[in-house]
This record gives sequence, structure tokens and C-alpha cells, in this order.
Amino acid sequence: MRKINIEPLRGSIRVPGDKSISHRAVMFGAMAKGRTTISGFLPGDDCLSTISCFRKLGVTVSQNGSDVVVESPGMNGWTEPEDILDTGNSGTTTRLLLGILAGTDFHSVLNGDASIAKRPMDRVIGPLRKMGADIRGRSGGSMTPIAVQGSPLKAIDYEMPIASAQVKSAIILAALKAEGTTVIREKLASRNHTEKLLPQFGVEIEGEDGVIRVRGGQEMKPAEVAVPGDISSAAFFIAAALMVPGSEIRLTDVGVNPTRTGIIDAVRQMGGTIRIEDATDSPEQAATLTIRSSGLKGTTIGGELIPRLIDELPVIALLATQAEGKTVIRDAEELRVKETDRIQSVVTGLKRLGADAEATPDGMVIHGPVRLKGAEVDTFGDHRLGMTWAIAGLLTDEEVRIRNRECISVSYPTFFDHLNKLQNGLS
Ligand code: S3P
Repeated sequence: MRKINIEPLRGSIRVPGDKSISHRAVMFGAMAKGRTTISGFLPGDDCLSTISCFRKLGVTVSQNGSDVVVESPGMNGWTEPEDILDTGNSGTTTRLLLGILAGTDFHSVLNGDASIAKRPMDRVIGPLRKMGADIRGRSGGSMTPIAVQGSPLKAIDYEMPIASAQVKSAIILAALKAEGTTVIREKLASRNHTEKLLPQFGVEIEGEDGVIRVRGGQEMKPAEVAVPGDISSAAFFIAAALMVPGSEIRLTDVGVNPTRTGIIDAVRQMGGTIRIEDATDSPEQAATLTIRSSGLKGTTIGGELIPRLIDELPVIALLATQAEGKTVIRDAEELRVKETDRIQSVVTGLKRLGADAEATPDGMVIHGPVRLKGAEVDTFGDHRLGMTWAIAGLLTDEEVRIRNRECISVSYPTFFDHLNKLQNGLS
């Protein structure tokens, strides 16, 4: 048996609000005329980027921790921004804003950080241009900085070539300003927070069996939104509790929308013990998760599961290093265009920690269990890598030094406080 020189994780925490829902709540509140209130908002850097962009459009947003009030004159009352809209590190802000801005009647420019500058935007700009959008960008129009000249839009019937909620959402939001009914066809389901939240803002949207229909010209009304905890943030502690012997933790109010719970399916496939209780019956379901340390076995993760756990794959790869046998992650080429190339950056870090991990074109292959060792690893500016390496540090005798770990505040500013709490068994 391997010996791990740390105390088991114990206690109960509520992880911060869901990042995807927090972005959308602010965006939809800004599109509707009136006062929208949001509780449980994630005050992470990405969602703060969204707020700062809307302030530049003339929307009043007051934010106090996880409480946000959006007061908007409605989309038709927005003003042309005098300055560049800085989307920071946030793909969701950049892509969804492109869809929203396409149907305005003014000019705007979007730019983000060095990671955003490398991420493909043609996947959004392509369908938006089909709707009549006037969008210009670097590199043949596909990369930031991107200029949008608002223009009249028309509905399209679009088959999604990749499973991407960001692309789907950008088209849905542009469709609200387009003439006619837009149809979006998804072969593989991606997260459906846009479809679930828009009706709260008075929008009628149909979405069954992978076909979504949205009528243009709908009036939006303000809403009160309660954001559940982010299962993608919970994933780090789920993995930690599974791997550190003797652990048992409770994570309360975690969003368990079925388009996001691939991590639970993958953990169960690997033999992990995870209990789901007290699920709410709100449109965005939330529940309490109880996780107990478990013996794990290797598995294959691919196909329809991938979009349901795409952001959790870095920490699932770490989990695989502690599982008996071979784990194969496939069909996950999308990882290559996240905040970093997460196939390369995860495998590089895991190898430095002594893991048996190989990159493949669309995923990775990991053999376990391996006793990890301390090393210096880099986040390369990717928040999910930072937290993955912090959890790896629970398993090593020597220190895991994390370079560039400040990026963790992109999605989980209180990550280390919560880790400390669980290490000290506090509730
Ligand atoms: C997100 C969708 C996913 C996910 C990202 C957030 C969203 O990206 O990886 O962190 O909020 O819609 P894709 O839709 O590009 O796969």
C-alpha cells in the first residue's frame, strides 16, 4: 500500500457559483430592460470581465461578492462603447458577446489576453456571418482583436459541426435579434444553460432531441436568478476526496444539470463512491454530493460523455494516475483549444510529477497507480491546471511547486481557503 502523509479531507463546503450560469445571468440581465438580481454569482475574474464589458455598454452593474444587481435600459438603449471591450481570459465572454453584439446598431471591438488571442473564433463568426453579421478579425477574420459592426440579422438553420455551448449560445443570442426563426441542430448535446435560463427572462425557446428553435424579435424581461455551485469547481474536491485515504466530504448546493454531470458518471465508472442527495426541482437542479475515498480502476472516457465533462478532464487525468490499470481519454480534441492546449499541458505536468501519461491526438492514455513525487509544475496561465496541481500536491511527500498559480482566481478565487477548510475538517 502506498503511504500518504496527509490527513484525510473532512467537512462540508459550498463551492462558488457556476461560471457558465453567472456569465449568462449578467448577459441576459443586461439584454432585458429593468432590474435583474443575481445571487450565488461567481466573483471570479472571468465573470468580472463580463460585468466590465457590459458597464462599457452603458449598463449599471453593482457587484458585492456573490450578489449582483444589473440595471439596464435594455439592448436597444445600450451605447456604443468608447473603448475596447476587454474579455480577459474568458472564452465564454468573448464568444457569447460576439453573438449579442452582432445584432446591435453600433460598432464595438473585443480583445482578450494572450490565451484568448490563440483561441479559434471562426467557429462563432462563421455562423454569425451566415446570419448577416459584419465581423472582422485578425488572421482572416478568425481571431481577436475582433471588430463588430452591428447589422440587421436573419435567421439560419445551422447544424453544429462541434459540440460547443459557446457557439450554440452565441447563435441563440444573435437569433433573438434576427428576422425569422433560427434552428440549431446538435449531434452531441453540449451544456444547455442558455436554453434553461432564457425562459426566466421571458424568452420562448424550444429545444428537444437536439433541435433548438428560437424566434427573433422577442422582448426580454428582467429576472431573479439564483446560481447553484459549479460542478467544475467541485470536481477538484471530488477528485481529492476520492484519492486521499480516509476522506469523506460533503459539497452542498452543487449544480447537477445532466449536461454537466459527466464527472459523476466517470467517477462511478472508475469505482468511486459519490452520493447525490436532496436534489432541488428548479430548472437548474442543485444537490448535495457526498464523496468518500475509494479504490479506483482505469476506464475509457469518450463519445457523448466528453462534452459533459470537458472542463473536468485535467483533474480526471490526475485521478487516473491513482487508478488501477489503463485509462483512455478519447474524442477530446477540443481540449487542444481551451485556455491552454490541455492535452499537452496536462501530460507535461503529470509526467513531471512522475505519472505514466501519454498524449494522443484526441486525448491521453494514463497507466496507474503511480506514486507521484513533488516537482515544479506550470499552470501556463490555465486556472484548471493550477487547481489540478494543487490537488496533486496532496498525494506527494515532497512539495509540488506551482508556477503562475494566481490564474486560479479566474474560476475559483477562494480555492485555497476551501482546501484548507477541508484539510482541517471544518464545516
Ligand atoms: C462553456 C462551454 C464550454 C466550456 C467552457 C464554458 C460555456 O466550452 O469548456 O468552460 O459557458 O458555454 P465550449 O462550449 O467551447 O465547449
